Amino acid sequence: MNDILHQLRCIGCGAQIAGAEARPDFRCVACGELFDVEYPGWSQRGGKDRPNAGGLKWVLRERRSSSEALDQSGVWRFRELLPILGNYSNVVSLREGNTPLYHLTRSAKALKIDRLFVKHQGMNPTGSFKDTGMTAAISVAKEWGFECVACASTGNTSAAMAAYAARAGLKSLVLIPEGKIAWGKLSQAMDYGAVTCQLKSDFDGCMHLLSQIVKEAPIYLLNSVNPYRLEGQKTPAFEIAEAFDWSVPDHLIVPGGNLGNSSALGKGFREMLELGLVTRMPRISVIQAAGANPLVRSFREHQAAVLEPVMAHTRATAIRIGNPASWRKAARAIQETGGWCLDVTESEIAIAKAEIGAEGLGCEPASAVTLAGLKKLRAEGKVSSSDTVVLMLTGHTLKDADYTIDFHRGKLLGKEEIAGSETEIAGLRRDALAVEATPASVLAALKGRAG
Ligand code: F0G
Repeated sequence: MNDILHQLRCIGCGAQIAGAEARPDFRCVACGELFDVEYPGWSQRGGKDRPNAGGLKWVLRERRSSSEALDQSGVWRFRELLPILGNYSNVVSLREGNTPLYHLTRSAKALKIDRLFVKHQGMNPTGSFKDTGMTAAISVAKEWGFECVACASTGNTSAAMAAYAARAGLKSLVLIPEGKIAWGKLSQAMDYGAVTCQLKSDFDGCMHLLSQIVKEAPIYLLNSVNPYRLEGQKTPAFEIAEAFDWSVPDHLIVPGGNLGNSSALGKGFREMLELGLVTRMPRISVIQAAGANPLVRSFREHQAAVLEPVMAHTRATAIRIGNPASWRKAARAIQETGGWCLDVTESEIAIAKAEIGAEGLGCEPASAVTLAGLKKLRAEGKVSSSDTVVLMLTGHTLKDADYTIDFHRGKLLGKEEIAGSETEIAGLRRDALAVEATPASVLAALKGRAG
């Protein structure tokens, strides 16, 4: 553990502690809030540990042609920006990160935005953005000598944790809400060998239980309350800036669940600004599902000063979270960048997901809230046609195939939910056709669809 270069700072009371002093639930002893990883040597210009912006850009370009495993990871090639390990031989990597940035052409045209991109984090080794955080935190667990790791999850964290734990030779424990996670994700946790417990509870209940368990047994907690996870999850911000030649987009739009991801991306951009790698931050907006919108309510009713948990309901199961752990960090990212926090309905999510699919990209339902949210921001005049916009697609389309099939078969949404959007939805649905095995029938089907 590189306790020389980093320390932890409580986001509530400002207490500073060494990494080794963190409690098993990663909450501050004094005030109960979460910690940020902080690099004291960066804060002064010319400080001896402060990465030099020009030099770092050069090194990053050089690493593109390197065959070193560390340089091929989209997380560890930025290692000067997350110096959390004492020894890089502890890195557990599946070559995560380096995900594609695609132009979203049809939606750009429909929304009259010239420069609309998606950063597809679903193209990570286990199919979600969680891999970038997991490589960082599992490497820390290995360095610390833990033998068992655990997380509560709506599915993707458990898939990522199980895979990285298996690579590291660690035992892993997964707590999931019974019947409320997509099969694709559950199958991954099983396949990678995790001890998977389905609890008669929701995500928030699983999280609460796990916080108690880690206080009783030497188990390393890998939810995003673990600040080292966020160090990995901030690296897509670096990749985005790098892709735009170290300028930044005007808007970054992120789905909100437990709110670790938006917090991490905010930290990534904040640190690049502090180090002089970029000259400004994008506006960071967080989009939640209307049935799981505690942060939206907190902004609406309390200017993000308090958060009241809600009972969460949405078919976008990845973000079915009513009591998000990292809400203060996410609120800070939104407020300091001048972004927005809003929610979208079940039919808006389904339509946006089908539109992303129709562009040949696809994503899981929780990711599609970003496009649905962008439509609203555009309609309200908060995003202009000359702005550069990046949507974070957090999970692969195959994560939740049932949702997609139900949508295309017309079984996903109720009548009331689609009221007013019937034509739009009918235009996007592509059910498989039952066709006779003759050339004429197949060609007729093709003609019918083309028409
Ligand atoms: N998108 C996907 C696909 C997710 O799996 C998650 C969270 C989010 C968005 C929200 O990100 O929690 O950082 O705000 N999934 C977690 C899990 C909770 O257990 O897999 P967040």
